[in-house]
Amino acid sequence: MTSSSTIICENFIAELNEFIEYQKPDGIFVLVDENTKKFCLPLLLQSEKLKNCQVITIPSGDENKNIHTAIEVWNYLSSHGATRRSLMINAGGGMVSDLGGFAAATFKRGISYINVATTLLGAVDAATGGKTGINFMGLKNEIGVFAPADKVLINVDFFRTLDDKNLRSGFAEMIKHSLLDSREHWKNILKFNLNTIDYELLKHRVAESVKIKEQIVEKDPKEQNLRKALNLGHTFGHAFESFSYSQHQPVLHGYAVMYGLVCELYLSHVKLNFPKEDLLKLVTLAKENYGKISICCDDYEQLYELMTHDKKNVSDTINFTLLSEVGKIELNQTATKKEIFECLDFYQEM
Ligand code: GLY
Repeated sequence: MTSSSTIICENFIAELNEFIEYQKPDGIFVLVDENTKKFCLPLLLQSEKLKNCQVITIPSGDENKNIHTAIEVWNYLSSHGATRRSLMINAGGGMVSDLGGFAAATFKRGISYINVATTLLGAVDAATGGKTGINFMGLKNEIGVFAPADKVLINVDFFRTLDDKNLRSGFAEMIKHSLLDSREHWKNILKFNLNTIDYELLKHRVAESVKIKEQIVEKDPKEQNLRKALNLGHTFGHAFESFSYSQHQPVLHGYAVMYGLVCELYLSHVKLNFPKEDLLKLVTLAKENYGKISICCDDYEQLYELMTHDKKNVSDTINFTLLSEVGKIELNQTATKKEIFECLDFYQEM
């Protein structure tokens, strides 16, 4: 359903087989975590092409996206006969595709790999775009390389086992993509019913979402310029996410992105005249589907401090991607502390 290396599968096993047939690897290594081993591996193993594959299992959770787990994967590949012509299949969410992509891209200077996205968030974000990496010394994705997967397979049927919160978390990145794209895409997203998921319709929305991400990445694969657009909602979003962890009330990534989008579209409205009616539609979507994390004015300094540590900043200014309207992206925007606090007031009062 997209013309790129990403396939939104109609028949997952057939599409997997077709790629393996074309690639003709001399060995196949399937990387899973504890969850995908249980819920997704049985389906993968229905492929006759995987009858001699070797399965590498890693512990799940972002706290395991580290050098120790990467060493385990390299060790396994090395001691089980992997060569330059072997294929790795990363079956999982963002943690598995980030770490597996990194391990594959560095083993023997790089072997082919496929991402089989098993979460909605992974499908519309981490699996595509070629960012791979691990966390290091407490910093997220500090070590990694840009190395696109040879193929990304998205099988919406995997998402049927996701709980409501994980679906909403992934959907927040789709909301972001629609805002970056066009009014028509935004309207389609607003119409989507998150309370009763129509998986056939979700397949189309995921295809649209992946397409916009791929168009952006194709123009700027190494995030020199346009790819920064994908950070919409993430300057405030990452601060909310870290804040929630510091309060021992962690929220899923997409929830933090949704709160970040509310703040950053408010900032877009104040600074670039982003239409109020679209801002209010986003606020309604957020209130109805994502709740809120409770913050008070005493937390503003901590949230501001977290934003100053954002990787995207240059010199002392906090960097934002904003919109002047739906689909009109304004990169490298800045805001004063006072303006940032005003956004937090807006969030608190919404
Ligand atoms: N997650 C944003 C990007 O891939 O650039």
